[in-house]
Amino acid sequence: MECWWVVIMGCVAVMCYWFWLEREKRRLQKKGIPRGSAGWPFIGETLDFIACGYSSKPVSFMDKRKSLYGKVFKSHILGTPIIVSTDSELNKVILQNHRNAFVPAYPKTIRELLGENSILQMNGSLQKRLHALIGGFLRSPQFKSQIVRDIENSVKLTMASWGDRDGSILFQEEIKQITFGILVKVLMSIGPGEELEFMSREFEEFIKGLICLPIKLPGTRLYKSLKAKERLLKVVERIVEERKISVQKLDGNGETNDTLDVLLHDTDEANESRRFSSDFICGNIIEMMIPGEETVPMAMTLAVKFLTNSPEALKQLKEENMELKRQKTESLEEYSWMDYISLPFTQNVINETLRLANIINAVWRKSTKDVEIKGYLIPQGWCVLASFISVHMDEENYENPYNFNPWRWEKTGAAVNNSNFTPFGGGQRLCPGLELSRLEISVFLHHFVTTYSWAAEDDEIVYFPTVKMKRKLPIRVTLLTTI
Ligand code: HEM
Repeated sequence: MECWWVVIMGCVAVMCYWFWLEREKRRLQKKGIPRGSAGWPFIGETLDFIACGYSSKPVSFMDKRKSLYGKVFKSHILGTPIIVSTDSELNKVILQNHRNAFVPAYPKTIRELLGENSILQMNGSLQKRLHALIGGFLRSPQFKSQIVRDIENSVKLTMASWGDRDGSILFQEEIKQITFGILVKVLMSIGPGEELEFMSREFEEFIKGLICLPIKLPGTRLYKSLKAKERLLKVVERIVEERKISVQKLDGNGETNDTLDVLLHDTDEANESRRFSSDFICGNIIEMMIPGEETVPMAMTLAVKFLTNSPEALKQLKEENMELKRQKTESLEEYSWMDYISLPFTQNVINETLRLANIINAVWRKSTKDVEIKGYLIPQGWCVLASFISVHMDEENYENPYNFNPWRWEKTGAAVNNSNFTPFGGGQRLCPGLELSRLEISVFLHHFVTTYSWAAEDDEIVYFPTVKMKRKLPIRVTLLTTI
């Protein structure tokens, strides 16, 4: 008897839930909410989202729904109702974020590890101030001339170690050494040595927890990552305190050599109390490593992967870079930032790599008010996923989108305001590391293709939770004999 009672109650609960869902659907559709499905109770469409992420075609989650509901649709993933946009115009409006209608909305573990002072989570005037400071420094001519030598040194130092290993290397890991060294130099002027190695180890441990279960008990992934962050913070705190003393000695008139100097020198003239606190600076220095750490090495690794499978493109890239090398050897001049970034075919290779790699495949936002764009309503409190990968892999925007074709950029170029090409995001939060990243990739490609030939073993790209090579791209490099 009791058993029947439980079954009846269960059926009633399911029916109530179904009626409620249908009523909500009708109510929201009436208001102009994009069509779509809320999926299963509680889990929504999360399982399919993750399964597609793990497949070789992560965009298939969006493609399936796009064909059913159109370019903008609603879904329910990772525990939240969400509107997914695969429409470049709508993405542009979300990124521009006029009237501050959207704020960043990262999953819980990311929020926990980032900390509330991170620029990636910040909104309003503080985000704008920090963004302008960092971007202004990274674009300054003084920084550009200094960083070219640092990048060259880092690339050459790592390449020099390859001879000891008979040229057999795990490419993805080697490249990380190059780019982490540059990043820490840009942030705090730390050069090669024990301190850099310690930071590299701890940072690696720290970011492992970015996408994991949100449980903070001893032994869990999140706990270990937070501990690694504490150890990193100790090193950074010491560096910040030492630097503060030297800034005070020079009465704030010293040179601005890195991001730490930028943050320490900044005073809001109208209001002394708005000077950044030491805690804020330390947290932000560590958190700024996150967007820079995995992205650049993956772009370099995937450029080499794509070039390995495209001998025509490699040939043309090599010719262009060999010519620059010849000119520089003859004139005995140093390379400048402009030398590296004005090689047109090299820039096309970089554009095409960024388009196909989709290292940051989307950005997550939450609406702070009801927003209407292109006839769609995004209700207050809903998450929005602006999907870059869908735009980059759309046949309407790119012919044969799955082909690595650097020549396609000869016609179009890659202007920052091209809303069909947004590897670095756009609007208020356009990546301040954009020019630096392109320079790093250009310098690396130049020295790599003019120094070595290589043979790569078979390997696959994995897209979830972040883009990586399954086997870290094992390759064997051989010194070119023509130099
Ligand atoms: C290929 C390399 C890179 C790619 C593809 C990339 C991509 C992006 C994207 C898509 C965003 C926008 C996030 C959003 O709108 O929420 C972003 C933001 C950001 N990136 Fe990058 N990034 C790269 C390299 C770097 C580097 C090297 C640095 C540091 C030196 C950096 C620092 C930042 C920072 C601080 C932000 C936050 C800006 C803000 O919210 O105001 N990035 N990046």
